[in-house]
Amino acid sequence: MRLVKTKDNSDTFYSDEYEETFHSVSGAFDEALKKFVLASSLKEGERVLDVCFGLGYNTFIAVKNVKNLKIIALEKDRKVLDELQKLEIEGFEFVKRVASTGFYENSCSIKLIVGDALETIDQVDEVDVIFHDPFSPKKNPELWTEEFFSKEYSKLAKGGRLVTYSCAKAVRDNLRKAGFVVEDVAPVGRRGPSTLALKR
Ligand SMILES: C[S@@+](CC[C@H](N)C(=O)[O-])C[C@H]1O[C@@H](n2cnc3c(N)ncnc32)[C@H](O)[C@@H]1O
Repeated sequence: MRLVKTKDNSDTFYSDEYEETFHSVSGAFDEALKKFVLASSLKEGERVLDVCFGLGYNTFIAVKNVKNLKIIALEKDRKVLDELQKLEIEGFEFVKRVASTGFYENSCSIKLIVGDALETIDQVDEVDVIFHDPFSPKKNPELWTEEFFSKEYSKLAKGGRLVTYSCAKAVRDNLRKAGFVVEDVAPVGRRGPSTLALKR
């Protein structure tokens, strides 16, 4: 993994294993805020499932912007959790604590389960919002299937929202087959929209 500076001046990593950056180079924090936190209309006190915690930016930006969240995060790669300890970001200590101990509690609560999300999702209780943020469907296909979206659907409360950066037709088809109603989210740092998937 190597460090990459994105256009909003936040750092991300390039993964040699997946041959992709962890965030859009148009702005890692900007992406976390606009494609995940704002796109999901996240509200005070809601329960969040952060699928693919990675460097923890989606959780970090959510906690910075919305009070009293209850977050459960899934991540399979211990190396990534070790690597994020090197990031120097103001206010990032709680993310580092989650990555090293699996737990943090203050006004918000965060629990991290390390393992393959295909299996660890079975340990998750009902949530209001899902941040769905694996690598791309081409590189990380197991998390973009109808089967995995169906599991996510089953974890969402009625009226719950899933957000993801992809707007690929195959992704949206699988979301619909899993039961979601799919909507566009205005583009951020590229031409295409991202996706809001609703459980009605
Ligand atoms: C695009 S990055 C996530 C970025 C992250 N949301 C953030 O805000 O920093 C994708 C992450 O998915 C993880 N991942 C890939 N396949 C996985 C799986 N089957 N189960 C759990 N995590 C997985 C990778 O290790 C990587 O950390």
